[in-house]
Amino acid sequence: MRKKRIFITGAFGQLGDAVIREFHSGFDVLAADLSIPRQKHSVCRTAEVDITDRRKVQTLLKEFAPDIVINLAALTDVDGCERSPVLAEKVNVGGVENILDCFQGLFIHISTDYVFDGKEGPYAEDAETNPINVYGRTKLQSEEIVQSRSADWVIIRTNVVFDYNRRTRASFVKWVVDSLRAGKPIRVVDDQWNNPTWTVALAEIMHEMINGGVRGLYHYGGADYLHRLEFANRIADVFHLDRRLITPISTGELNQLAPRPLKCGLKTSKIERKLNVACIPIDTSLKAIYSKLQG
Ligand SMILES: NC(=O)c1ccc[n+]([C@@H]2O[C@H](COP(=O)([O-])OP(=O)(O)OC[C@H]3O[C@@H](n4cnc5c(N)ncnc54)[C@H](OP(=O)(O)O)[C@@H]3O)[C@@H](O)[C@H]2O)c1
Repeated sequence: MRKKRIFITGAFGQLGDAVIREFHSGFDVLAADLSIPRQKHSVCRTAEVDITDRRKVQTLLKEFAPDIVINLAALTDVDGCERSPVLAEKVNVGGVENILDCFQGLFIHISTDYVFDGKEGPYAEDAETNPINVYGRTKLQSEEIVQSRSADWVIIRTNVVFDYNRRTRASFVKWVVDSLRAGKPIRVVDDQWNNPTWTVALAEIMHEMINGGVRGLYHYGGADYLHRLEFANRIADVFHLDRRLITPISTGELNQLAPRPLKCGLKTSKIERKLNVACIPIDTSLKAIYSKLQG
């Protein structure tokens, strides 16, 4: 029997690494991104593609003929989106349109808790959306496109995705670990609340959703609801680093361009019930990352 084909966009970002690892043995995977890192995965085929390049996207989809698309590609720099709203819309919304215009199979789309305003999180799937920055608005638009143009879709909203990945530019865990290991003091906000999500656990959930034929909108995140300072402290403890180097700061003091939803995060009971699974405690995920790095 031929293996099912999965086309992964944004495959060499933070989440992509775990997604490739999760799917490469059971599926025929084509991993695509803006550029392919030098130490690329030899486990699957790769392709350079910008999802805003409509013709290239369509040619690739025609040639590879995937059964499933996992769309991870996005402009994820929240302040960058605020600075360049046209580009943010082109990538986060237009890119999705480009794929869906010529793809009829199962479309798995990753969205965010930033579709909410962060006044009373954590949020369930049926909570009212009200994004407060460009990134959140474009991701909400992308969800609407998926729901209106695809006949076979899954949207997973997740939040504060983490792993320690040497290749990834923006990884909170890597930043905290590398800074503390170098004895460098860091300031971390104590007023942004989420339930951070380990990439490996999220990739496994995607696999279970595919196996179980699950469709629709679901929230997925870690089992612990905490603020970012507490997350940094947990990282320090698990990695045996000095948490005294971490001092609190408020989001307001950072003067970031894009407003941040503060009390955000996601309720996960819908997916836990559907798949009969339990979300993973943050210390369990961090200990697994720590052990992997030691080994
Ligand atoms: N990280 C989080 O905390 C978080 C939370 C909730 C939801 N999500 C969602 O999860 C998904 C994966 O996020 P991530 O954490 O893996 O982010 P990431 O590390 O920034 O990965 C996104 C990937 O997409 C690529 N990309 C950007 N523009 C593209 C384009 N025009 N065409 C093709 N690829 C493009 C990026 O390449 P470059 O690096 O070269 O730009 C990057 O490799 C995204 O949809 C994001 O919105 C993430």
